[in-house]
Amino acid sequence: MKTFYVTTPIYYANSLPHLGHLYTMIVADAIARHQRQQGIETFFLTGTDEHGINIERAAKLNHRTPQEQADYVVSYYKQMTAAFGLDTAHGGYDIFMRTTEPFHYQGVSELWRRAAKAKTPKGRDALYKGHYEGWFCAACAAYKTEDEYLKPTNPDEPPTCLIHETKLDRVSEDSYFFRLSDYDDALLGLYEARPDFVQPEARRNEVRSLVRGGLQDLSVSRLKSSVSWGVPVPDDPDHTMYVWFEALTNYITAIGFGNEQQERAIGFEKFWPALHLVGKDILRFHAVYWPAFLMAAGVKQPRAIVAHGMWVDSAGRKMSKTLGNTIDLDVLNRHFSIDSIRYFCLREMVFGQDGRFGYENLIDRTNSDLASGLGNLSSRTLTMIERYCDGRIPSGNISEEGLLLAKRAGVDTDETTISGFISHARDEFIRYFDNFGFSRALEEAWAIVARADKMISDAKPWDLAKDPAQQQTLNAVLYRAAETLRWLSVLLYPVMPNATREIYTQLGLTEEVSKVNPSQLKWAGLPEGTQISEVMGLFPRLDKTKIMDEIKGTGPSVSGGPDERGSSPTVGEGSGQHATEADAVPGGAANASDRRSRTILREGISQHATKADAVKNETGDGLIEITDFAKIDLRVGEVRSAERIPKADKLLLLTVDIGEEKPRQILAGIAQYYAPEQLVGRKIVVVANLKPRKLRGHESQGMLLAASVGEEGKPVIATFAEDVSNGARLK
Ligand code: MSP
Repeated sequence: MKTFYVTTPIYYANSLPHLGHLYTMIVADAIARHQRQQGIETFFLTGTDEHGINIERAAKLNHRTPQEQADYVVSYYKQMTAAFGLDTAHGGYDIFMRTTEPFHYQGVSELWRRAAKAKTPKGRDALYKGHYEGWFCAACAAYKTEDEYLKPTNPDEPPTCLIHETKLDRVSEDSYFFRLSDYDDALLGLYEARPDFVQPEARRNEVRSLVRGGLQDLSVSRLKSSVSWGVPVPDDPDHTMYVWFEALTNYITAIGFGNEQQERAIGFEKFWPALHLVGKDILRFHAVYWPAFLMAAGVKQPRAIVAHGMWVDSAGRKMSKTLGNTIDLDVLNRHFSIDSIRYFCLREMVFGQDGRFGYENLIDRTNSDLASGLGNLSSRTLTMIERYCDGRIPSGNISEEGLLLAKRAGVDTDETTISGFISHARDEFIRYFDNFGFSRALEEAWAIVARADKMISDAKPWDLAKDPAQQQTLNAVLYRAAETLRWLSVLLYPVMPNATREIYTQLGLTEEVSKVNPSQLKWAGLPEGTQISEVMGLFPRLDKTKIMDEIKGTGPSVSGGPDERGSSPTVGEGSGQHATEADAVPGGAANASDRRSRTILREGISQHATKADAVKNETGDGLIEITDFAKIDLRVGEVRSAERIPKADKLLLLTVDIGEEKPRQILAGIAQYYAPEQLVGRKIVVVANLKPRKLRGHESQGMLLAASVGEEGKPVIATFAEDVSNGARLK
């Protein structure tokens, strides 16, 4: 049986995902569904990249161990993929790969051992020990050459990464090197022999010229003393593997390379080689390093490396957490259907090129292409079948006697005109889809929508219905429209799994649209007499003004730059939320400019909002998603000590044991209501994943919860009636 294996990059477990990450998953998911529809056994991998200095740092910042940090991000990813219908339960990925899995350690050690024994194509050792001296960007997890960073104006300062605009780390240590410089000819030979190996063409050219320009050997390990959170180098435990060496290998360890159990469960032999779908930002790692590692280890090359463009902000900068210009998945999830997001992503971004994201575009496309386009075609067709044909799919045939009448009504008596058009568009759709031209493929599908719409408008079924003699003509028109809907559902299933299933059901079809092969569709396959189901709208029209107002309340979107990220979150006194350290900061009443200064911090996501906006943000229509709540890490804490802070009459400085190695220091604006001695020994609720911040020269490492009572908003600290252990999680 034919098999197919598609992968997304595995995402860094240092921060929560945004639209960019979702996008690659959507594309991979659509590809996987398209393959499965053709009866091809498909394996779809996504997951997280959990080692390295950037995870270690994020963990530290969040007062977690690296493993806890990874677990936290993974739990969000899992909720997010479920919410967007991308998980296994919804027919999405087959594995959520985690590089902290023991089988991964085993497989990656095997790859290393093989590379350590290998000779390069030029006959030298593929791995050797040396000394690395240079600059490293933690966010890219990459070493940077002079043309990849911005030199500082002050020579004592480190240079800045051109991508992330963050300071680089100086690395000077012993390291294992991969002799990449010996692989240039072999790689160029690979690109030559397999023109589809790197796609699209422009990316292939980019990679070829990069390799032609000469390759430098690559440092593939760090000293354990500088990066401890990583896979140990086999037989040399003072070193951990460079995270890219290890992370890339996930694509084969996931399916069983180097681990028998995983091999039996999934099958390296069965599924490898994979199609790697990546953003162009990480093309070099996939199209140069990875093939070279595989050559050294004697493993077959991937099927292809396919790079898409980036979602960028209005200034053309890649959407990224570090730049603070991301599109928040919770906002998307709250306001838009999964299918309209999927459709938009695949239709709007010309695959391979960068795309600008705008909520307004998303609303416009949803309204024009989905609500007025496909949705309207579906509901008008089915409503007319309901009304004029007793809710049964009519016959598409026109008898000899009826031909003249049909012609008189301006209806084409030759059914093959429309079926020929649609079947050609179907072929084009598949051709584009198979070549990652999703946007073009969807244009073809919408040409079908337009064709069917025109057929209906020209034939005017509502007029035909007035003349009993025209029943056959009317039936034929409605049959053609319904059959067109069936074809559209099959074609569009990989793009919009929910809406197409719905159309299928409304057409009265019981088979699974996910299992119908679009290339085998035959015209007139829709059985006459089928009872249709209740007709329901597929894509409600979106109220642009209302949605935009709500979204604006949730802070900067893709247009936001680093200057909009907000620095210190300040909120005026008397703002009604006492007992938080933020409230304890003197700040004055909220005015227009203060309204922009409140930063709602979620881990890895910073958003501005006014107080009112903050409420809107979290509650919207009064409800939040479970994923919103899951982002807040609430823990039971025990107050160990409490003291006043000189010259800050509202603040108390507490140390609170939340079950960690060391108690947290937390500042709370409750000094006017609680004497320090009242608090010692009390069990309280702590928001444990709030970014630390300085108040009056003291770092506050969390926030305690309290009710705000009465008009003056007197804080009453939340506590427990029963005995609970420190650090217990509130869920
Ligand atoms: N961990 C590495 C990948 C290792 S794969 C063996 C990594 N992680 S990442 O979290 O930074 O994810 C990068 C990928 O996320 C991109 O290649 C792309 O697939 C997706 N995107 C992140 N930001 C994006 C945009 N702004 N636009 C489109 N896709 C983006 O790199």
